[in-house]
Amino acid sequence: MIDATQPVVAAGSDPAVEREQRFDAPPFRARGPVSEQLLQAFRRPTADAPETLAGLAGAIDDALAGSDDIARDDDLQLALLVLHGLHYGSVVDADEEWEWHPAMVAARVAIERAFERQLREQVPSVPLPAPDAEAVAAVLFELTKPTPGPSVARFVAKQATDEQAREYVVLRSVYTLKEADAQTWSIPRLEGRAKAAMVEIQADEYGGGRPERMHSAIYARTMRELGLDDRYGAYLDAVPTIRIASVTMMTMFGLNRRLRGASAGHYATYEMTSSLPNRMVGDGFRRLGYGESVTDYFDEHVEADAVHEQIAGRDLAGGLAEQEPSLVADIMFGASASLMVDGWGAEHTLEAWTAGRSALRQAGGTDRRIALQQVP
Ligand SMILES: [Fe+2]
Ligand SMILES: [Fe+2]
Repeated sequence: MIDATQPVVAAGSDPAVEREQRFDAPPFRARGPVSEQLLQAFRRPTADAPETLAGLAGAIDDALAGSDDIARDDDLQLALLVLHGLHYGSVVDADEEWEWHPAMVAARVAIERAFERQLREQVPSVPLPAPDAEAVAAVLFELTKPTPGPSVARFVAKQATDEQAREYVVLRSVYTLKEADAQTWSIPRLEGRAKAAMVEIQADEYGGGRPERMHSAIYARTMRELGLDDRYGAYLDAVPTIRIASVTMMTMFGLNRRLRGASAGHYATYEMTSSLPNRMVGDGFRRLGYGESVTDYFDEHVEADAVHEQIAGRDLAGGLAEQEPSLVADIMFGASASLMVDGWGAEHTLEAWTAGRSALRQAGGTDRRIALQQVP
């Protein structure tokens, strides 16, 4: 019988050398027993799994049983981010065999299921449109229409200090340094009009053939221009867990074919709430005296997302609803979950800033002055 827990050993490689192999610690810390065990296990090859994973399933069960808010659970959210990171790459340095190691798949699915259950319980119910592209787009545009109240982008535009503006860039970096990748997982899970729409948007997100115009690359440049470290995870210790949840949620939607409706709904609202806020953030950086090399990312999204939101609303989400009417409820679920979780993240940031506090995470011995130090 084939044992899926055993690594494939390439011809000619020496198993003894493999066992000695050690992987670098990530630039961030664990947030509890589950993430601690995972990060420790990833420093060793999969061949050591019987030892390094002992008790992991029980620890996950305990953590899930003991958590009444998975979206804000420090340990489980970081665990999910690093498990997803095995699929993305460049989140943790680890034996690539971990990606499909059965224990990792089991861990990911256990946390995702609990997270999804919570999101489904908490999203506000929205009236379901008919499975018609225009009707679906109309409901999504209604859900995401700009409101006059306080917002993080407005705060950055009008009153953020230089330090707060840099915090904003750090908070967004968990997603934006891998911008669009979470949604790309869903491309082969879509068909026809919805798939073509997704590819059209992603072609832009990935720079239309110019690697330096990839949105993730433009963002990395913004970070470097601000003197920030653009390596993935460099500031993860300073990022509040609710911001991590927004990324694990969209990765979960993208990686699970079953959730392709949620992924489409999520992406549509994501694009619909991007153009105006990015204009404001660009204005904020200009107000603080920064030039085009810093504002390029935000300015790029003013035009791009005004186009993307139309494609994502009508052709991606709307097109999918017409192709698969049974997915309308999940399209709306993904849209509402996106607004809800990103709303929680924004609330957290605004609350801190208006109280004169840093919006970065202070726990775990992380000092924000250290976290935001200039890269030499
Ligand atoms: Fe983008
Ligand atoms: Fe976009």
